Amino acid sequence: MAGGSDVAEMLSCVKCGKPAHLQCPKCVDLKLPREGAAFCTQDCFKDSWSSHKSVHLKAKLSSVGDKNSDLASEGWLYCVKRGRGRDSKLPYFDWTGSLRPYPISIMRTVPAHIEKPDWAVDGIPKVEPNSDLQHRVEIKTPDQIERMRETCRIAREVLDAAARMIRPGVTTDEIDRVVHEATIAAGGYPSPLNYHFFPKSCCTSINEVICHGIPDARKLEDGDIVNVDVTVYYKGVHGDLNETYFVGNVDEASRHLVQCTYECLEKAISIVKPGVRFREIGEVINRHASMSGLSVVKSYCGHGIGELFHCAPNIPHYGRNKAVGVMKAGQTFTIEPMINAGVWRDVMWPDGWTAVTADGKRSAQFEHTLLVTETGVEVLTGRLPSSPDVFPWLNK
Ligand code: MF3
Ligand code: CO
Ligand code: CO
Repeated sequence: MAGGSDVAEMLSCVKCGKPAHLQCPKCVDLKLPREGAAFCTQDCFKDSWSSHKSVHLKAKLSSVGDKNSDLASEGWLYCVKRGRGRDSKLPYFDWTGSLRPYPISIMRTVPAHIEKPDWAVDGIPKVEPNSDLQHRVEIKTPDQIERMRETCRIAREVLDAAARMIRPGVTTDEIDRVVHEATIAAGGYPSPLNYHFFPKSCCTSINEVICHGIPDARKLEDGDIVNVDVTVYYKGVHGDLNETYFVGNVDEASRHLVQCTYECLEKAISIVKPGVRFREIGEVINRHASMSGLSVVKSYCGHGIGELFHCAPNIPHYGRNKAVGVMKAGQTFTIEPMINAGVWRDVMWPDGWTAVTADGKRSAQFEHTLLVTETGVEVLTGRLPSSPDVFPWLNK
């Protein structure tokens, strides 16, 4: 075992979690991630050997028949950081389920004539975090509302184009390409692209991924569920929506999860009108989810939207939340419940974006951008007569 006096940050023993001072010498030779090679004592190292040694075999196999090296030569690499960090090797991680990240393609470009949000150039939003609209809920002007109607309609048409592609064998990168090209063809900018360095033009979240999955080289498989989340920036405003789709034949438990999540959003929208407390949204969603044996994600919330992508109000989807304020005509915000088949807790992948369920069970989500009207609500991203017929429960 190699000593670790030069180890800058303290690692935990792979076996018992105690501070680790030793590194498996074989892992050091193979240049494997230090996190997966750390042990506190020779005893823990010996006790782990029968299972730990498979790590070496796997590393050798993947370096021989490395199909990723073909991809790497075309610029396909794993996203290994929230930022620009990329690597041809997948880092060690205690994955919660069976899904794994795949390499991502190089960043897509946007033509010069498209109006861009301030993060498009350097990955850093500058107006958004400093705006007073993070604390005060704006009442939109008639002009802003009209622009939001147009943008949200484009976002809906872009999402529908993505929905029509869903089938086994299609990669999420191919879905991202269609979202990117359809957005630009409509004169818009795909808001996620380079937002806090997010590397792609939409989010694609498969199976145990709760949200913010990065489109990559993985092919959709029969039985998967996949959420596609599209946001478009057009005429100075954002429109944001998402839906969860079935890939081929999906088991009954997943169909129940996805339909229940759809119903959670519908029920939440049905209470929106002036005078209703924002905190009521989470009560309605929690009631329906828990009644159906499902749990509600707490770490990610709905948000105000308009000239800013994310602003006040914050809209938790869970019960007994402390959201402040009441709805007023002219406000625009999203509701986007994430509902889990198992526990509500989330874990972040090493890419800094992909949120997965802590128990590896599946998660579904639906999102709309809404306008509070004098009498109730207008669903700005609502389905169109042209929207594809992909949800069996809408045909009854
Ligand atoms: N569209 C997501 C939402 O509903 C935000 C995605 S931000 C990204 O709020 F950077 F991950 F794309
Ligand atoms: Co949103
Ligand atoms: Co969204």
